[in-house]
Amino acid sequence: MFSLPPTPEDPVFALNRLFNADPSPTKISCGIGAYRDNSGNPTVLSCVKKAKDLIGSSTQNEYLPISGDAEFLSLSRELCFGSDPSSNVSSIQSLSGTGGLYLSLKLLSQIGCKKVYASNPTWGNHKSLSLNAGLEYSTYTYLDLTNLSSPSIDITNFLSDLSSMPLNSAVILQACGHNPTGVDPTSEQWDMIVEKCRERKLYVIMDNAYQGFASGSPESDSLSIRKFLSSGLDFLVCCSYAKNFGLYGQRVGAVHVVSADSKNVVDAMKQIARATYSNPPKHGSDIVKTVLGSEELKKDWVREVGEMSERIREMRSKIREKLEETTGGSWKHVTDQIGMFSYTGLSKEQVMKCREESVYMLESGRVSVAGVNEGNLERICDVIGRAVGE
Ligand code: LMR
Repeated sequence: MFSLPPTPEDPVFALNRLFNADPSPTKISCGIGAYRDNSGNPTVLSCVKKAKDLIGSSTQNEYLPISGDAEFLSLSRELCFGSDPSSNVSSIQSLSGTGGLYLSLKLLSQIGCKKVYASNPTWGNHKSLSLNAGLEYSTYTYLDLTNLSSPSIDITNFLSDLSSMPLNSAVILQACGHNPTGVDPTSEQWDMIVEKCRERKLYVIMDNAYQGFASGSPESDSLSIRKFLSSGLDFLVCCSYAKNFGLYGQRVGAVHVVSADSKNVVDAMKQIARATYSNPPKHGSDIVKTVLGSEELKKDWVREVGEMSERIREMRSKIREKLEETTGGSWKHVTDQIGMFSYTGLSKEQVMKCREESVYMLESGRVSVAGVNEGNLERICDVIGRAVGE
């Protein structure tokens, strides 16, 4: 007979459940990182609709190879690296970014890596994935939290934490649009980070979940990845096409392994994939492949991801303006931060007060700005204003 203690729910999806169960007609979700348009609705990108039409309903549903769709992987490499540097890069399709992290961490644990570090704070699932892969988990300093009205990377402590990691540890770095803080290293800071990773012989995993969402340009958002590529270091990139293509439920992603030994690394990952889910789903990668493989649809996509990013930036300005008006304090950090999320600085208690008024955000004070629109902005700011004012 089973006899299990209760398992805690995942905080992001638990919050989504609470939101869905809330009968309030004025409830607002700024919890899960999923883009909503200015009317609060999920978006199907027009390039995705066109790709689906082109794919049609009679496409065959045969198995993909364990490594996935080769053409999709080549286009994904091109998006990451600028062109397809297939000579020392090998790839495997993954179940979005999470699935890619799973393959990467499991592989590292199989080859003797003991410990993985992620930023403090980071996306909650980094810890669960690392522990699940059999690795020890710890964090490195990321943000200078002393001045929340002007948050910046605490580069001194970040670098010194990298320096004191045991040789051959793994480090998860977020390529752009850092979740949950919305604060990314500058170009010069990335150079220093790359150098430290080289010095400590770290296994680097780039979590690339928001390409296009941070700056509005997929090209500019690949800066950190390109720096690692030109450094000549071995590293892994885990790409997700959930956010930037709006393909959340399709689980489409890729792991790119940059190493002279990349083929053997991917072969080992294929073995993990085969023993876990066998081979990847096909529809999502068909869509991404169709978009990225067509000059016209790719242009549409670059424009659309730019528009989503721009709408979020506009909301940031309006939130800042309205909150500075209601609270009298500085909310400059909201416009300094980039990407989908704002790390507001609200305490857990203040977050709970917002929830009592049916405005949902993570306990850490992370707001998904993608959930804010012209219609709900006023109410969100009023509710936050009351919570911080009490
Ligand atoms: C988030 O952080 O809200 C998203 O990345 C969704 C997830 O899977 O947690």
